[in-house]
Amino acid sequence: MKGIIFSEFLELVESTFGLEVCQKILDENADEGVYTSAGTYDHKDLVKLIISLSKITGISIEELQAVYGKSVFTNLLDSMPELKINSSSTFQFITQVEEYIHLEVKKLYGDAKPPKFDLISSSEYDMVLDYISARCFSHVCFGLIEGCAEYYNEKIDIQMKPIQADGSQVRFTLTKV
Ligand code: HEM
Repeated sequence: MKGIIFSEFLELVESTFGLEVCQKILDENADEGVYTSAGTYDHKDLVKLIISLSKITGISIEELQAVYGKSVFTNLLDSMPELKINSSSTFQFITQVEEYIHLEVKKLYGDAKPPKFDLISSSEYDMVLDYISARCFSHVCFGLIEGCAEYYNEKIDIQMKPIQADGSQVRFTLTKV
């Protein structure tokens, strides 16, 4: 997975829990903490860091993933200005993530594997889509959608239901409130 996903995570850990906690989770995993944005790293190393952070803070892995996703949204957007799109709402943006942004990410970095979104249904008020990824980061996805809704100043209820028990396919139902 691209280095930016790791470096943003470590920055969030440092600013929220402090340098000591950040160093501790790196040490526990014999991780040097050097992630460059162009580099590609094993996503399991991020999972290990999140598990360590969960043990230290007592916050669940799911909650940590969601908080991370929410906070990384604008930084991710700003980090790739060439992928700026014209969109005026969360639903429109999410459609563009599948149809344009993640496709371009794959073109830019041959080794990137962003998740797939299968649109099940959509209307002005709701949207149902399946998150599909062997990385099983549906809670990061939840947070990114929350961050996106905040960016567009919209209130959106987000419900998740596993389609595959291992979390590799999760159905999201988004409803404007
Ligand atoms: C609502 C908005 C978005 C959602 C729900 C979303 C979802 C995700 C998720 C869940 C991942 C983690 C990998 C996985 O689960 O397989 C991911 C990876 C990624 N996303 Fe998105 N994303 C969004 C917006 C963006 C934007 C705005 C950008 C860039 C401009 C972006 C670029 C990337 C990149 C570079 C990766 C790493 C892929 C890799 O290294 O394999 N995403 N996305």
